[in-house]
Amino acid sequence: MTKLAIIGGSGFTKLPTLEILRREVVHTPWGEPSAPLTHGRFGDTSVIFLPRHGAGHTIPPHKINYRANIWALRHVGADHVVGVAAVGGIRADMVPGSLAIPDQIIDYTYGRGHTFFEEDLVQVTHTDFTFPYCEVLRQALVRAAASMGQSVVAEGTYGATQGPRLETAREIDRMEKDGCDIVGMTGMPEAALAREQGICYAHCAVVANRAAGRGEGPISMEEIERQLELGMQKVRALLVHLAGQI
Ligand code: HPA
Repeated sequence: MTKLAIIGGSGFTKLPTLEILRREVVHTPWGEPSAPLTHGRFGDTSVIFLPRHGAGHTIPPHKINYRANIWALRHVGADHVVGVAAVGGIRADMVPGSLAIPDQIIDYTYGRGHTFFEEDLVQVTHTDFTFPYCEVLRQALVRAAASMGQSVVAEGTYGATQGPRLETAREIDRMEKDGCDIVGMTGMPEAALAREQGICYAHCAVVANRAAGRGEGPISMEEIERQLELGMQKVRALLVHLAGQI
């Protein structure tokens, strides 16, 4: 049976629609996860929730222990993981408030613990990452959105930046030339680590703002928070539909 986990991002440290059964502290060989795992239920489907930035939203993107988070989820049996993430919109149709289920990634991050295959290896391991997301879960998210009449952009390339600062306008120009449609700070190495653990992983991205140089004036945190508040309500509803379907 499928075991679904949700990693919550900015604006998504709680999942009030989840019926909470218990919390579990997991220690991993890679250190401590961002928070204890919350085991709960959407109707008949059991779901595990983990807030990526910690329960109080205090861990910045480059300090998140992605390896511990993914290892902990795998350890408790999660085989499907939805990473919820706030992003900036680069492509013209990625306007604040839209939801996107990307199908590709370009990684600009550095210095993060990005692999489980590092030390004490029996053999050097290379993981196929041609298609970085799990198509089964991507399509399930797209179907869940359709079933509730929620529009989503069903493809797109997620550019993962280091943060915590936002990008310069020229960095966004370069990312657009590279083929990025949305930009966020936490998508990698999370997706790659999930693949290394054999987890079916997909992103549910909420566009919080137009990316640097794509909107008018500087990017305001108040506006980001306002958009996330609205966007995450849609995501919460979407996840309930997803859980009912998989
Ligand atoms: N850039 C990077 N990460 C983000 C952004 C952005 O514009 N908005 C929300 N997360």
